[in-house]
Amino acid sequence: MKITVLNGSPKGELSGTLKYIEFLKIKYPNIDFTVFHISKRMPAIAGKGAEYQKILDSIEKADAIIWCFPLYFYLVHSELKRFIEFIAENHDEAVFANKYAAAISTSIHFFDHTAHAYIQGISEDFGMRFYDSYSPAMFDFLKQSSRHQFLFFADRFFACIREQRPIARQTNVISHISCAYNPATVHKKVNAGKKRVIVIADHLEKGNTVSSMVQRFSQSINGDVEIVDLSKMRISGGCLGCIKCGWDNTCRYEGKDDYIDFYKKSFMKADIIVIAGKIKGRFLSWEWKRFMDRSFWRTHSPSFNGQQVGLLVSGPLSQLPNVMNVFYGHFEVGHANLLGFVSDESNDSIVIDDQITCLAKDLVDASNYGYKKPVMFPGYAGMKVFRDEIYCDLKAFFRADFKYYRKNKIFNFPQKKRFNRFLGSLFILVMKIRPLRKMFTNMIKEGIVMPHNKILKNESLEQS
Ligand SMILES: Cc1cc2nc3c(=O)[nH]c(=O)nc-3n(C[C@H](O)[C@H](O)[C@H](O)COP(=O)(O)O)c2cc1C
Repeated sequence: MKITVLNGSPKGELSGTLKYIEFLKIKYPNIDFTVFHISKRMPAIAGKGAEYQKILDSIEKADAIIWCFPLYFYLVHSELKRFIEFIAENHDEAVFANKYAAAISTSIHFFDHTAHAYIQGISEDFGMRFYDSYSPAMFDFLKQSSRHQFLFFADRFFACIREQRPIARQTNVISHISCAYNPATVHKKVNAGKKRVIVIADHLEKGNTVSSMVQRFSQSINGDVEIVDLSKMRISGGCLGCIKCGWDNTCRYEGKDDYIDFYKKSFMKADIIVIAGKIKGRFLSWEWKRFMDRSFWRTHSPSFNGQQVGLLVSGPLSQLPNVMNVFYGHFEVGHANLLGFVSDESNDSIVIDDQITCLAKDLVDASNYGYKKPVMFPGYAGMKVFRDEIYCDLKAFFRADFKYYRKNKIFNFPQKKRFNRFLGSLFILVMKIRPLRKMFTNMIKEGIVMPHNKILKNESLEQS
């Protein structure tokens, strides 16, 4: 049996995730594993020379492929994303067709589900038979029990290939639309006063839909709008995964390209941020992904302080809830307020015009008001994952986060709520007395809303 492994770690051979493959090589000496360090080698692979051809040949001869990758910002590393786009741009998906596929990642379990949903979707878009995902935490490999579980996953996968088991597609088939959007002249602009508005797009070219959306947005604003084209920004490369930033938020690339300066002086300082881009293979482009990955110099500390964010997306956004989940998560843990999305899916210029102008107005109003939506599960649970990791296992690697979390009271463990815990225990004791328990159970619904009712009563008194 031949298996091609596509390694998505920028660390190449030093990838911790790759240890799972090395483990399989020991346990299954009869299986031929060929590993390609995609994320590390992608700049060379993109030259479309012998290296790229070697990968395609290997995939063609393989019975299956394994995506082996670390989680990078809700998905995969930008260079693996670039590889996936590269395959599609070169119409080489056919080499993947009908192969079995599996995905192995390591992470701290922060949005590993969105990364695996993405990889499964891509595998199925390429016509592969996607078996399953395996997503252990980054140090789980050290536990014998965890390796034992992994062998079951692998064994089932190999049996599946040997027996040519049927596998049903689980992700939706995306239908792509082509939109001819022509923005009209804006007659009623939104006054943004002194608000700093920044629009960042990946490829601004006259006539492309993203550019037209950006144009409509900026013309809807009465005030200064900084428009940034990522393709023109000097960015030396993707995140290297070196975690040099963990100590004091200093990136290895600092001073070597424009990214950090831009991030500090423009991106973080804006009041209103608009992200604009085209869907490429189930997410925005790899350039956008690189922009996100490189923001890791902030490590696990939020970059924002209540900024309002909007998205302008060209492509099938409504068919890709994963994209929305990623951005909600990203801005919720980043302490910004993601207010809304506009896509070109309606394929109706008048509708798109209206939606963009409304988004512009909403963003300015929300910024003036200081609006902060309550975070939902992604931001709420995400911060708890970070909090626990930074407090304990990752403390030594991410000293800057530890200091930030301590200063900003993010180590808000419930154990510290001594009074509430005492009340809870006392209540349990009281509830052990049967007649009291009966009384409380009868009162519980009214009891919970009693303080709310008190506030409403005061509010109506103040109003009258
Ligand atoms: C830039 C960057 C982004 C990351 N993003 C995530 C993430 O979104 N979710 C997560 O759980 N872990 C994330 N991690 C942690 C890595 O996935 C984890 O350390 C992984 O085990 C590294 O594997 P590797 O040694 O194979 O590269 C990130 C790490 C880096 C450096």
